[in-house]
Order: sequence, then C-alpha cells, then structure tokens
Amino acid sequence: MSQPILSLSAVRVAYGRIEAVRGVDLAVGRGAFVGIIGSNGAGKTSLMRAISGVVRPAGGTITFDGEDVTGRKSHEMVARGLAMVPEGRMVFSDQSVRDNLMLGAYTRIGRDDAGVADDLEKVLGLFPRLAERIDQVAGTLSGGEQQMLAIARGLLSRPKLLVIDELSLGLAPKILDLLFPVLTALNRDGLSILLVEQMASYALAVTERTYVMENGRVILEGASTDVAVDPRVLDAYLGRRGAA
Ligand SMILES: Nc1ncnc2c1ncn2[C@@H]1O[C@H](COP(=O)(O)OP(=O)(O)OP(=O)(O)O)[C@@H](O)[C@H]1O
Ligand SMILES: [Mg+2]
Repeated sequence: MSQPILSLSAVRVAYGRIEAVRGVDLAVGRGAFVGIIGSNGAGKTSLMRAISGVVRPAGGTITFDGEDVTGRKSHEMVARGLAMVPEGRMVFSDQSVRDNLMLGAYTRIGRDDAGVADDLEKVLGLFPRLAERIDQVAGTLSGGEQQMLAIARGLLSRPKLLVIDELSLGLAPKILDLLFPVLTALNRDGLSILLVEQMASYALAVTERTYVMENGRVILEGASTDVAVDPRVLDAYLGRRGAA
C-alpha cells in the first residue's frame, strides 16, 4: 500500500487535567474517504484540532504527506495541504462570500493567481448557490449555504486532505442530500477526505473506512460496510433500540 496522506500514532490531547484524546492510531490513505463517528465528548473535535495544528498534542506522532508534523501550527498545515472545515463552520459573517472564499486561497494569492481563479470557478460550479450569492454578506446565508462556503473556502487552498468536523450539524436532510454527493464527487476526483460526523448513517454510507471513538479512544475501526453492521454501532449510533 502506498504511504498514507495522514497517519497518527498514539496521539493524545489534554486540556489541563482533562484527557480528551487518549492514544489514537489512525490513517487516511491517499485518495481515501475516511469517517470518524462517536458520541458527544468522545474527543473527535479535539483530535481534529491536533491534526490541523490548533492544539499541540500532549503525546504521539502526526505524519502528513510523508513528514512528521507533530506540533506544527495551523497556518503551516494549510500551506502543506491540509484544509480544515471546523465544527460550527467559522465563516466571517460580516464579509462577503467572495472575501470568505479568497481567505481560503491566502497562501496562493500572488503566487498562483491564475490557479486561484480557476479553482474559484470550479468551486462555484460545485455550489451554484454560492455563485448566486457571491457578493452577499456571509452572515445572511442559511446554515447549509454557510457549510457550502466553509467547504469551498477549504478547497481554495487546493488541499491534499480535506478534514470536515460535523458536516451535518444543524442542517436539514434536504441540504445533506446536496452536500454529501459533492463530497463523494470530490473524492472520486482524487481528493482525500476525513469526515467527522454525528449522523452515523450518512457517514457510513459515503465513506470507505470508519473509526468509532468513545472516551478519547478508537473502539472500533474497519470497512464502513462492516462497521455499519457491528452490533455496538447498531445499538449506540444507528438507533437499534428495544423499541425498534
Ligand atoms: N477547550 C477545552 N477545554 C477543556 N476541555 C475541553 C475543551 N474542548 C473540549 N474539551 C473536553 O474534551 C472532551 C472531548 O471534547 P470534544 O469536543 O473533542 O468531543 P467531540 O467528540 O467533538 O464531541 P461533539 O460530538 O459534542 O462535538 C470533552 O470532555 C470536552 O468537555
Ligand atoms: Mg465535536
């Protein structure tokens, strides 16, 4: 197997005495679509913060694109090709859609303006709703449109790996039916994707491999088709309860 784009070994994240991530091993192959599911407080966002350089891991090793990047800052991770769509999206609500998108391209502006213009056209093709609202202030977008903007902004850094923390948060199924196929198409075009997702059924349907996190640890991993029929996952995340 070729070297993964991302691999984690024994990664730990702590906030003072709270250990949010307690030794996680994880790999995303080049061109793969990998999911992480798990209940509230399992440590998923903390793990994403460590990967994207927002927090420094308390232990372990993070390798990205063949290099040890443990403890590197987020701006450096962006420059290396990691795009993060954070939980809650974090769009700049008082700036236009266009300005938000251009912030995603900041590492390339002045160096690759033609490439940025090309990519802008491509992402607006993926998300026509953003094209129609390009001069609108981002705070006036719907939640689903803001998620599109956050993804599009990430794509404008021309990433090797796109990391999304909670795609579905607060969004209606109708919007999710628009968003998930875009991710599938991007992955089919070669983009590696790591998706943290609270809606386990959606994540298991689109990803190839899934990790299940509980209490800061990976308790199960495997092909998504296998994870989807694991009794622990059926009980805890897919709503197979006594009443069903
Ligand atoms: N900045 C912080 N300071 C202190 N504790 C934190 C901080 N951020 C997260 N935690 C704690 O770390 C643990 C893991 O939280 P985290 O947000 O990583 O979980 P999560 O799996 O993303 O949950 P959710 O599904 O609700 O998004 C929780 O116990 C949380 O209270
Ligand atoms: Mg989270």
